[in-house]
Amino acid sequence: MNYRGIIFDLDGVLLSTDEYHYRAWKALADRLGIPFDRERNGLLRGVSRMESLEILLEKSARTYSEEEKQAFAAEKNARYRELLSKLTPADVKSDVRQTLLDLRALGLKLAVGSSSKNTPYILERVGLQDFFDAVADGNGITHSKPHPEVFLKAAEGLGLPPAACLVVEDAHAGVAAAEAGGFDCAAMGDAREDPRARWHLKGVPDLRGCL
Ligand code: BG6
Ligand code: MG
Repeated sequence: MNYRGIIFDLDGVLLSTDEYHYRAWKALADRLGIPFDRERNGLLRGVSRMESLEILLEKSARTYSEEEKQAFAAEKNARYRELLSKLTPADVKSDVRQTLLDLRALGLKLAVGSSSKNTPYILERVGLQDFFDAVADGNGITHSKPHPEVFLKAAEGLGLPPAACLVVEDAHAGVAAAEAGGFDCAAMGDAREDPRARWHLKGVPDLRGCL
């Protein structure tokens, strides 16, 4: 087996919370009269909340003060948290859950590496708060993806070098972060065809073919 650890992105990989991010940003954009669609939403994947807001505001006809931006980010997060509050363990698809159990049974160490500050809340909602061997998230990093910091922290938490870990990502920024940190990457979803990834997956269950 090539890898000793697997580091999972959260939104759009382990869970479909990427859709909730989209809906919450879309509601804010509509309220402000700023054009925003699913294609543009792809640019927000993997990057921090404030960086996401800056990308959204690029299409605005006017500029906003720092105070207004903080308020917009809080408004988006409140709407996002409302959607997250409805998550239950059933939101982890059964084939994803089974794959996690199978990978662990093979002796692999498993981690989460996410830019989201809501990671602890989400893991708790779906009952995975004690499942992973390490969790690195937006609360403990200074640079979000495409910087490799969050994956390097996750690998450190696993006690493994990057070369022994596989990163699983749905964001181009995440694939770039994996490459910058010296990790192999399995890309899926939005980033599936990204040429920087070593593996191109339909979904998490395909990970079994990467080992
Ligand atoms: C990432 C998402 O996982 O987390 C981004 O892909 C999001 O779209 C980022 O902006 C930050 O999330 P949060 O929950 O801290 O606002
Ligand atoms: Mg993601």
